[in-house]
Amino acid sequence: MKYETLNGTRIPKIGFGTWKIGGGSYADSSQDERSLAGLRSALELGYTHFDTAEVYASGHAEELLGQAIAESGIPREELFITSKVDPANLRYSDVLDACEKSLRRLGMDYLDLYLIHWPSHSISLGETFRALNQLIREGRIRHVGVSNFDVRLLEQARAESESPIFTDQVSYSLADRSYVRNGVLSYCQKNNILLTAYSPIEKGRLRGSTTLRSIADAHGATSYQTALAWLISQPRVIAIPMSLNPKHQAENLAAAEIELTEDEIERLNGLA
Ligand SMILES: NC(=O)c1ccc[n+]([C@@H]2O[C@H](COP(=O)([O-])OP(=O)(O)OC[C@H]3O[C@@H](n4cnc5c(N)ncnc54)[C@H](OP(=O)(O)O)[C@@H]3O)[C@@H](O)[C@H]2O)c1
Repeated sequence: MKYETLNGTRIPKIGFGTWKIGGGSYADSSQDERSLAGLRSALELGYTHFDTAEVYASGHAEELLGQAIAESGIPREELFITSKVDPANLRYSDVLDACEKSLRRLGMDYLDLYLIHWPSHSISLGETFRALNQLIREGRIRHVGVSNFDVRLLEQARAESESPIFTDQVSYSLADRSYVRNGVLSYCQKNNILLTAYSPIEKGRLRGSTTLRSIADAHGATSYQTALAWLISQPRVIAIPMSLNPKHQAENLAAAEIELTEDEIERLNGLA
């Protein structure tokens, strides 16, 4: 595995997403066995960074993740757990309440990273960060971050936060370079902020170009692995693919071992 180290914290370049664990927008307990099997195999394969959110399956994704981790017996300090507060809960007391509920569902007493899931148009970042700063001081969260923030919002978040902004989690893949074009990637790289790439393999719909396939073939890898290897070849970029299929989970982890050449990276850069 390759890692990024930020403010003394080491985080793997490839983590595990949990959207669709336990349902979609709503909890669907008929999916529990499938979801738990997916989480168990991810833990057994060695994933240590898990990304979840209070809205995923209305909190049920957090419950199942907490259950799978508890059953695994893996010490809490060996894992890095990210959750997110919904934009509807960005008022001071709602943030504190949302964080406590996430911790309860996960069965944990701290989060490694807590993100504002989407910016709010009506609640000031100052009010939200009053709560996030307090959660850091109280040790309920170790790091704070944001998601779906542009550069202007990132600058505001940095000004309101008492601790460094750890990450901006945004959509980033071979096909989606919008956060490169809007300057977020270079802003993060210049200011020591991780860019966490969500939907990094385009929700499983990656379109394999001839270039992508030929580079993948040269490494004996799949196009999905090569797309992940390209993302994490970039400084300060980590990725959180999601898969319930143990074969895909193992392939995604193994993507961290692929060493792309400068020429291959240039050719993949040119695919946009
Ligand atoms: N902050 C935000 O607003 C936000 C938004 C979206 C997502 N996220 C986070 O990012 C995570 C990942 O994004 P995502 O779930 O949207 O998309 P993704 O990881 O790009 O794609 C997931 C899909 O790809 C398939 N897949 C995974 N690995 C594969 C492989 N090696 N080969 C072939 N197919 C593969 C999976 O199917 P199988 O199960 O069949 O493998 C699944 O259907 C989410 O789970 C969530 O934690 C955050």
